[in-house]
Amino acid sequence: MSYSVNIISTDNSVVKIPFKPNAYPNLMELIIDTYYEEIGECLGKGLCGTCHVKVVSGTMEDFMDSTEKQTLSNTYNSDSQSRLACQIMLTKQIDKMTFKIINDNILNL
Ligand code: FES
Repeated sequence: MSYSVNIISTDNSVVKIPFKPNAYPNLMELIIDTYYEEIGECLGKGLCGTCHVKVVSGTMEDFMDSTEKQTLSNTYNSDSQSRLACQIMLTKQIDKMTFKIINDNILNL
């Protein structure tokens, strides 16, 4: 069974990316491999904020761990729709959801 997510790039183009559940460790790896390469500075540890995305449509039902919450709280222009793509697993839960890549991710440390 194949699923897909819609990714809105920083220039507002939309790309539909098909995926197989758990074919990559997380959504960030899928985005890097198929589309957009300038995210993921900390290699998915949830610390750098460069993989900041916002949920545009759909609902995330998983919980955020304390590291993700902490990084997002220090990330410029994060809000209640913000997530770190490296902390989102490729499961059917995100099928047909839309995420926008946020690129001006300056950490306010
Ligand atoms: S890759 Fe650094 S927070 Fe996701």
